[in-house]
Amino acid sequence: MRSNGCGELRSKHIASNVKLCGWVDRCRDHGGVIFIDLRDRSGTIQITVDPDQGAELFASAESLRNETVLQITGLVRPRPADAINSKLSTGEIEVLANGLEVLNPVTGNLPFTVSIHDEEPVKEELRLRHRHLDLRRERMSRNLQLRHTTIKTARRFLEDEGFIEVETPVLTRSTPEGARDYLVPSRVCSGEWFALPQSPQLFKQLLMVGGLERYYQVARCFRDEDLRADRQPEFTQLDIEMSFMDQEQILKLNERLIATIWKAVKGIDLPLPFPRLTWNEAMDRYGTDRPDTRYGMELNDVSDILKDMGFKVFSGAIAAGGSVKCITVSNGNDLISNVRIKPGGDIFNEAQKAGAGGLAFIRVRDSDEIDSIGAIKDNLNSKQKAALLKQTGAKAGDLILFGAGNTATVNSALDRVRQFLGRELGLIPTDHDNKLWQFLWVVDFPMFELNAEENRLEALHHPFCAPNRDDLGDDPDAWMERLPQARAQAYDLVLNGLELGGGSLRIHNAELQRQVLQTIGLPLEEANQQFGFLIDALEMGAPPHGGLAFGMDRIVMLLTGEDSIRDTIAFPKTQQARCLMTQAPAGVSNHQLEELHVESTWVDPE
Ligand code: AMO
Repeated sequence: MRSNGCGELRSKHIASNVKLCGWVDRCRDHGGVIFIDLRDRSGTIQITVDPDQGAELFASAESLRNETVLQITGLVRPRPADAINSKLSTGEIEVLANGLEVLNPVTGNLPFTVSIHDEEPVKEELRLRHRHLDLRRERMSRNLQLRHTTIKTARRFLEDEGFIEVETPVLTRSTPEGARDYLVPSRVCSGEWFALPQSPQLFKQLLMVGGLERYYQVARCFRDEDLRADRQPEFTQLDIEMSFMDQEQILKLNERLIATIWKAVKGIDLPLPFPRLTWNEAMDRYGTDRPDTRYGMELNDVSDILKDMGFKVFSGAIAAGGSVKCITVSNGNDLISNVRIKPGGDIFNEAQKAGAGGLAFIRVRDSDEIDSIGAIKDNLNSKQKAALLKQTGAKAGDLILFGAGNTATVNSALDRVRQFLGRELGLIPTDHDNKLWQFLWVVDFPMFELNAEENRLEALHHPFCAPNRDDLGDDPDAWMERLPQARAQAYDLVLNGLELGGGSLRIHNAELQRQVLQTIGLPLEEANQQFGFLIDALEMGAPPHGGLAFGMDRIVMLLTGEDSIRDTIAFPKTQQARCLMTQAPAGVSNHQLEELHVESTWVDPE
């Protein structure tokens, strides 16, 4: 139906006869000549319809609505010098139409303008409701093409490295990745349920036991969890697993994969290797295991300096086993008023949202003089003052913000304040300098964290991560006791404060796997019932193996510069996990429920 894509045409095509198909981006009547911007996926070209080419042709061009689907035949010719549009890649030429066929008229009302010339933001709700139209717009078309290039590059890289793609089941048993499962009732096995996979974790491990050695999959994962800009109920992982590789080799290979993607998509040479931080160091210096290292303002633990001070909020927190940490805002005295850091202020609120009771502060006036509201200043002796300034590196004009209390809360409050100030004070680099893409491996995660509500240990990643051999020792009788404090051979890849991916070496010893499941509170019988298939497999010659999974939607979000992964997915769900276009989820008939042996207890409050 066509000889070229609209956006492919250039000056070299002048004097060619072409046949084009596309949508009317806009139509302008310039006193006797009609200009149609014709758009397809490749771009837009100006079509000129001149009455000299025939009255019938001209008449059909006169009544065209935007988004009509057309086929045009015509002659490529140069535009007059004063009509060249340097913003358009086809802006030096136009097509003089000698044939026009309407392939499909627009008969309905368009809810918003699709045109590349239209820069009016459209409400997301409207865009999602009419996603088919939204996908025609430049932004989504560009994002999906970039997504495709990203995945294509990853596939090529992995295939060249000897990985093969294997599909794993979507109807399966629950895999513990920390979220709620989406459940599917089985009609055939009455009363039993499938879970949609939160990740292909166990299957990829079983593929290693199955001798596949190098596996990858562009895998859809399902998690019923609270949604945010970087979370969707169904999302895509680039899931990878390999046998006979140590952690160092796995990290190196994945760095090269990421560098290859950035080169292909952005043309950027990322410096390798990526920096690394241990989990402990990340928590100490940033209060989070996914620090944004594009800017400084690191956390400082000043507990040792302040443990004896008369200000009880500080000394009491330390005595109770917690800590006092602070961040130094360079030039903060000028930049931040007291109103913002006192109760009710926006910065104070950030600390509070992370669970902190408050935010203490001092203002450094000069090398010996500091100011604060409340009791800090009066309770600081000159030795403490000097030590504080030395450790924080604070200078005259700087503001020091403190968090005091249990260490986890202090960390999350100061992390939140640091990120807020990073944005507010414009500390995040926007230029293409070498600080724009700050990759970081966070390594040496703890195996477990305490679930305080249930007073039990939980796996920090998942319960299949191998513990560090140095922490565990070789005596299986000592494992149970040593496991709770052990570090995992687990790693996350962080980019600009966002977790792009994570993985680990896996347990390939059945006894150790049983003990880890027991450590998270699964009695042996239950462990066997839920994970017997895995433990059996580990007893039949499982190779040492490990891997990781990248969040593809997040990678594409960062590559496109979007703020939400919804703009990287063709048909995403809303914050309420709903598809506005198809109106899923939706009710089903009683007959369907009966067949599935399911009864709904839901009562519509209205
Ligand atoms: P994890 O749970 O860390 O690891 O997931 C890997 C990556 O997937 C992305 N991700 C998400 N993206 C969008 N929406 C979500 N709801 C969502 N949840 C996670 C993140 C994350 O880093 N089986 C392990 C991997 C392994 O050990 O090999 C796993 O799934 O970018």
